[in-house]
Amino acid sequence: MNKNHTQVHQIVTDHNKCILDESGFNKLVGRFDIVYTVVKISHTTYEWMNEFNMIMKQFLSLLDDDKVSLSEDGQTLTFKGHPIPVRNGVPRFTPDESYSDGNFAKLREEHAVLQFDSKNGTTDRDQTISDRTTWPKEFWAGKTVLECGCGAGPDTEILRNWGAKVIAVDLAGSDIAKESLDDEENIQIVQGSILDLPFKKQSFDIVFCHRVLQHTPHPHETLEHILQFVKPDGAVFVHSYARTFIQMCRWKYALLPFTRKVKSEKLYNFVKGYAPFAMKLTGTLRKIPGGRGINHFFIPFLNYRHAKQFEPLTDERVMEIGVHDTFDALSPPYDNPMSAKDMRLIAEKHLKHPFEIEERPMVTLLRTKVS
Ligand SMILES: C[S@@+](CC[C@H](N)C(=O)[O-])C[C@H]1O[C@@H](n2cnc3c(N)ncnc32)[C@H](O)[C@@H]1O
Repeated sequence: MNKNHTQVHQIVTDHNKCILDESGFNKLVGRFDIVYTVVKISHTTYEWMNEFNMIMKQFLSLLDDDKVSLSEDGQTLTFKGHPIPVRNGVPRFTPDESYSDGNFAKLREEHAVLQFDSKNGTTDRDQTISDRTTWPKEFWAGKTVLECGCGAGPDTEILRNWGAKVIAVDLAGSDIAKESLDDEENIQIVQGSILDLPFKKQSFDIVFCHRVLQHTPHPHETLEHILQFVKPDGAVFVHSYARTFIQMCRWKYALLPFTRKVKSEKLYNFVKGYAPFAMKLTGTLRKIPGGRGINHFFIPFLNYRHAKQFEPLTDERVMEIGVHDTFDALSPPYDNPMSAKDMRLIAEKHLKHPFEIEERPMVTLLRTKVS
């Protein structure tokens, strides 16, 4: 990196003091001894800036290090003095982690891609986020969102479609997300942990965390951590599985201590093996009085055939989703639902903005109020 680039870098990352705005430039022009340098810097700045997309620049400005630097080739970020590799446009704050290994990883990745509304022909994600946040879609437009645990990015896609700029963080699956969401203007995928986010506190318009909290080792600490990144007048949406009787007495919490020890591929094939029978059984039980309760508490299979959002899909596809979701329910290393009471206590500590907690039978939702 030559001297000019070093200077330019400081200008670009120190976003509060950008000397290239017109008024700043005019002031400097009065001082003839430095006009030459200024012109040289500004020329190089534009060249340098053009190499990186808009959202990457915004991402750099949000990092909690005013001296952060990105190498000329864009492959290494120096953050708090440490080199952070940037591959495939994704800064990697944590080691590479796939959803799983070998052939099985491929299968999982294919499924991850099929979660996208744009790819599966449903409006499942769109409707779920609208229903759970209760915010109007227009609310998202122009907002900078910290998405905690984006997975393959099916929600990221929706938030972007509603006009948000999304900084989407996850430990795993960054390359799948990047491939599916190649939007250099509005989405920055970041490989990192939501237990140790590298951003400035109180810097995001919205903190969004959907279907992730219970999968972290200590959800209370995770929630405390992520809430620090919302602006004082910003908005928050956090989802957790509910710590209710109807949730905690389900088959999965009885089976998880055993199934999470089974090798992923073996467990997946086992679920796939009994899926046709389980589809029929749950379909039949659903039609008899009390059968829905039996399905819910005792039959380890998620049959979505009756779900409105999956109506357009074939039986085969519904079964495929059921296999994957049942596998997902039986395999995570952590599944710790949070009580509404605990969520409220943590929110009260961190949020200045009015918020509400909604405890539904299966999920607990924290959201700030939008007027
Ligand atoms: C059930 S998936 C949900 C993904 C996405 N929000 C969605 O709705 O499709 C849970 C995600 O949380 C991520 N996750 C778990 N612990 C994490 C952590 N400490 N930091 C970042 N992501 C994490 C997992 O890698 C996984 O992608």
